[in-house]
Amino acid sequence: MMWLMGEDESLLALAGELTVEQKAALCLGSDFWHTAPVEAVGVEPIMVSDGPHGLRKQPRRANDAGLRDSVPATCFPTASALGSSWDPGLARAVGAALGAEARAQDIAVVLGPGINIKRSPLCGRNFEYLSEDPHLAGRLAAAMVEGLQSQQVGASVKHFAANNQETDRMRVSADIDERTLREIYLPAFEHVVTTAQPWTVMCSYNKVNGEYASQNRWLLTDVLRGEWGFDGLVMSDWGAVHDRVAALAAGLDLEMPPNLGVSDRAIVEAIAGGHLDMALLDQAAARVLRLVERARRREPAAMPGDAHHALARRVAADCMVLLKNDGGVLPLTDSPDLTVAAIGEFARTPRFQGMGSSQVNPTRVDVPLDELTAALPEATIRFAPGFGLSDDSADADLAAEALRTAVGADVIVAFLGLPAADESEGLDRRHIDLPAAQTHLVARLADAVPDTPIVVALFNGSAIRTSTWDHAASAVLECWLSGQATGGALADVLTGAVNPSGRLAETIPLRLQDCPSFLNFPGEQGHVRYGERVFVGYRGFDAADLPVAYPFGHGLSYTTFEYRDLQVRQAGSADTDDLVVTVTCTVANTGTRRGREVVQLYVADPVSSVARPPRELKAFTKLDLVPGAQQQLTFTLTARDLSYWSVVHRRWVLEPGEFQVAVGGSSRDIRCLRTLGIEAELPPQPLTDMSTLEEWLADPVGGPALRDAIGLDPDGRPAGILGRSELMRIIANVPLSALAAFQGLGITPELIERLTHTGR
Ligand code: BGC
Repeated sequence: MMWLMGEDESLLALAGELTVEQKAALCLGSDFWHTAPVEAVGVEPIMVSDGPHGLRKQPRRANDAGLRDSVPATCFPTASALGSSWDPGLARAVGAALGAEARAQDIAVVLGPGINIKRSPLCGRNFEYLSEDPHLAGRLAAAMVEGLQSQQVGASVKHFAANNQETDRMRVSADIDERTLREIYLPAFEHVVTTAQPWTVMCSYNKVNGEYASQNRWLLTDVLRGEWGFDGLVMSDWGAVHDRVAALAAGLDLEMPPNLGVSDRAIVEAIAGGHLDMALLDQAAARVLRLVERARRREPAAMPGDAHHALARRVAADCMVLLKNDGGVLPLTDSPDLTVAAIGEFARTPRFQGMGSSQVNPTRVDVPLDELTAALPEATIRFAPGFGLSDDSADADLAAEALRTAVGADVIVAFLGLPAADESEGLDRRHIDLPAAQTHLVARLADAVPDTPIVVALFNGSAIRTSTWDHAASAVLECWLSGQATGGALADVLTGAVNPSGRLAETIPLRLQDCPSFLNFPGEQGHVRYGERVFVGYRGFDAADLPVAYPFGHGLSYTTFEYRDLQVRQAGSADTDDLVVTVTCTVANTGTRRGREVVQLYVADPVSSVARPPRELKAFTKLDLVPGAQQQLTFTLTARDLSYWSVVHRRWVLEPGEFQVAVGGSSRDIRCLRTLGIEAELPPQPLTDMSTLEEWLADPVGGPALRDAIGLDPDGRPAGILGRSELMRIIANVPLSALAAFQGLGITPELIERLTHTGR
């Protein structure tokens, strides 16, 4: 009751007037995609639909997932691509376009965005997730939710929480320590909830530390509503509810799809038997009513036409990441003297989305080969498929034809990517390699025509290994799974009509084995231990100082940028809770083309009482600069940006000392760095008989109290252990209670008793 205030009191009152059966029915859908009507009081059902990169509306009142026959909709770039845009403005535009299509199709809630952290490149749904970094994922997702909801269509931020793998996803317990949850897996959700007020949140299938997310009161009520102030509705992922009554009590309002006749009966019986508080049922029913009420305010809209395809193309082009461009082989310049060998089946059969619940039936699909031909009208384009899409086995005839096609060309553009079956909801990959048929083909092309530069365009939704073949390529363009306009966008980037500005939202490792989660993914016997703790993605690679293929944040442009004048100022204080660190720097376009740079701000606390990553992204911005232009940027940081989550104090703690503030073009391309001295008072450490000598002495109250209690020797020098510095080094980390057993140290059980009972 306490979470529903103001205008919702009338809904609560309305809920209170319904029969128990009607309320129970409201807490379940009425079919796969609709909420339940309550005809007696004129409550109509509303329809929800997947997302997140395009609408997947089922044409009929369906009772199945209907993966294939959805109503045609614009397939925008998947999250793998959108994450690489580092552009909240674009994410907002995609959200608004998606919202407009949802309105036109009478959809009340779009099931997305998906904002789980990319913990391992093996996760089968990485193409649906934004980043390995919570700051980036949170900022982009919030913008997308704002865009969507600007159309009076609700978002459903998913999958809350810790759904970072597909293996055993319906049962596995994600075993995550509290600090890691707070620093890595929750902040993106927290940011979206606190800044963009999504109408709904979707809980995940998995357990979090032994409790199903759908039944996890700590997650769904204490944190989501209590700490973050979420005032919307929590729905289940499809089939995530195991015990409807426990889920309701934990804060899960709406079960989807409905387990009709089972879940509603269980609720009614629990109320009758006194096992479920009626107020909880009223509250959940009122939240469903509120969602219906919100959705009712939606005005109808017409289905937009070509504008959305054009938007999809613009966004896709801004998401592509130019990983490598030796000798400036790109962009290609149109000319009658240019012959391009386009090799690879993906040139005519593009891959642009992954499989599963996010699959869109696109309104149209650009064919990369056609788009490249149109973009280079004077050049000669020859095509050979090079490999088949159906399996991994090399086809000798296709490869031989590709070699013949390449001979005499000025440049080879190889269209490579993952087989569709490798990237799907429901299963994880087992390796991160491209099919051997493709990597062998690159090697053979490099052998056969060594003087012809090879440009590789990649179509994959999660990171792949490049280190085994990219030495043979002059340029590599990561296109991700970029939606129905991928082909046109690719032509725009290859020809320089668009200067690439995508940046990696995830690290591309040299080898899978280097990934921080490698030894703990996907777990076993029902548990996956997040053993790498906060060292996820670049945080882990950087802490271990491991070389990577392409670092987080990396991406080239056809122009160059210079950074200068980094300045860091602070105002206010951590102790009065108003610390503001203002960071300014200037970035200039020093090249010859207009281009967009993603300026990334990382912070570090090199000397800390807990293990912290050497660099953490805390702010970024994307600039658009013409040649010779420069811009001064200002970022603001707060105490939270410099803090860690303390499991002792169960809150964010800012430690005093020197911090580093760095700006650059990737996590490994730091251009300017400054140190920042922070003064902050540490929260008092609870001292007990099991606290160590060192901890007692370091405490501003406990230290003097202990020194006083041990006192001085007859010569006026510190007595006992305090006078023996050589011994102190060895036993400083021993708890006081253990030291009491040693004679002559001045620490006795009575002394400990006195210290711990007098509040030091
Ligand atoms: C997926 C969700 C999706 C839902 C409805 C589930 O299997 O995990 O992301 O929104 O199905 O299709």
